[in-house]
Amino acid sequence: MEEKGTEMGVAAMAACYQGFDPAAYLQYNYTLPRADFERKDSIMPWKLACLHRAFTEGDVNGELLVDIGSGPTLYQVMSGCEVFNKVLLTDFLEVDCFQGASAWTEKAAKLRQVITDVVPVDVHRPQPLALDDLPSAGADCLVSCFCLESASADLAAFNRALGHIGSLLRPGGHLLLIGALGTSYYFAGPGVKLPVVPLNEAQVCAGLKENGYTLIRLEVYILPQHMKLGSDDLSGVFFAKARKE
Ligand SMILES: C[S@@+](CC[C@H](N)C(=O)[O-])C[C@H]1O[C@@H](n2cnc3c(N)ncnc32)[C@H](O)[C@@H]1O
Repeated sequence: MEEKGTEMGVAAMAACYQGFDPAAYLQYNYTLPRADFERKDSIMPWKLACLHRAFTEGDVNGELLVDIGSGPTLYQVMSGCEVFNKVLLTDFLEVDCFQGASAWTEKAAKLRQVITDVVPVDVHRPQPLALDDLPSAGADCLVSCFCLESASADLAAFNRALGHIGSLLRPGGHLLLIGALGTSYYFAGPGVKLPVVPLNEAQVCAGLKENGYTLIRLEVYILPQHMKLGSDDLSGVFFAKARKE
């Protein structure tokens, strides 16, 4: 019965994503006021600062960085591409894989140099990537932003997805996870309302621990009033830096 419910949740989420509109998603989330580089309290500079710090502290290194659920964005690998020789982008939807790769590779020579491929992923599969997408030792680092809670039907599915992506990481490798707090939906296009698992900080920490990660740091951003838009009910964002045991 539990298995059946799980399968139905996964299938329902996959069906919801058929309406994902990359251009509208970028418009809602990656323009003013959320991507305001003139304001220190804007969400976009906060995310970039968290990632920059994590990638430059010296403990995150190796050959291969994998981004899980890249969507139509590349901000999440902009610091990492300076540290890793290879970056693999992934997404569930082909429309996202194409959009992300084409928009940015024209502008960023470094990204063009290190992004080796854009491949399909499904965080609900115990083995989320095709076997030949990764070296057998696994990735040295995973980054994933706003993917797991947006792709999961409930907290149990979010936790399982955390475990599934962990299988892609070598022991001692790092997970840099950014996600929504207290959020139940977002619009991924006009009239395309997608459900989100409303998470709190304790649930994120517990999920990481349950799945064999040691938390190094958790940072929380509270969304200022002027950044609350009709496109979602986001109330905050977490950034977690963790290591796989
Ligand atoms: C909210 S968007 C996040 C995009 C981008 N990472 C960002 O930071 O804005 C969620 C992404 O998860 C992807 N996704 C949906 N279901 C998925 C699944 N089962 N496995 C992996 N990714 C999935 C979607 O296609 C979408 O690109």
